[in-house]
Amino acid sequence: MACPMACPMASPIACPTALTLALLILCAEAEGFASCHAPTLQTKVFKYRIWDMNQKSLYLRNDQLVAGHLQGANAALEEKVFWVPNRSFEHARLPVIMGIQNGTRCLASPAAPQPTLRLEAANITELPRAGEASAPFTFFRSYKDGLWRFESAANPGWFLCTSARAHEPLGLSRHPDATHVLDFYFQLC
Ligand SMILES: *[C@@H]1O[C@H](CO)[C@@H](O)[C@H](O)[C@H]1NC(C)=O
Ligand SMILES: *[C@@H]1O[C@H](CO)[C@@H](O)[C@H](O)[C@H]1NC(C)=O
Ligand SMILES: *[C@@H]1O[C@H](CO)[C@@H](O)[C@H](O)[C@H]1NC(C)=O
Repeated sequence: MACPMACPMASPIACPTALTLALLILCAEAEGFASCHAPTLQTKVFKYRIWDMNQKSLYLRNDQLVAGHLQGANAALEEKVFWVPNRSFEHARLPVIMGIQNGTRCLASPAAPQPTLRLEAANITELPRAGEASAPFTFFRSYKDGLWRFESAANPGWFLCTSARAHEPLGLSRHPDATHVLDFYFQLC
């Protein structure tokens, strides 16, 4: 894919040839490091299955992601999670951007005192290089004993959760308790 940003230096109208060449090389390098190395170039979209520790998987109901036990023919309703790393964040925190439906609708949690989770139309391969405004799409993964938690980057201390009851929406919670399940299995399809 071509680098979308034209280098601002690439208009050497009255420059002598050698300088033009030097500028072009500089531009190429600046572009390479500043924007052409943005994730989209080599971003691979991973396709995973996610289900909570009580074996509830995710599916869409009334345009909302809910968690429930999908049996028999209903198993086909399960939404697979498509994800990419957000390389702008520290790699060690395992920052992921997640979406469903081939990564055309992504999980978002804008910063708020009582944060909520929603699905936003987006292109997951375009998101990693979006500006500050899109930070709500990032979650930090952490692993323990075979299970993962997903902490909202925009809302530190808040994690993706399902309800302990079946067929209720995916949301965010600070702590696991009798009604909130924060631990998920997360595996390659
Ligand atoms: C996802 O991609 C597959 C294969 O390209 C396509 O058949 C399917 O319609 C797409 N689904 C959505 C929801 O975009
Ligand atoms: C998403 O963006 C990528 C990279 O720009 C593009 O190749 C792809 O066609 C886009 N997908 C959709 C569904 O618009
Ligand atoms: C990725 O992380 C950077 C750095 O914090 C942030 O500015 C950007 O909005 C994030 N992108 C997404 C899609 O969350």
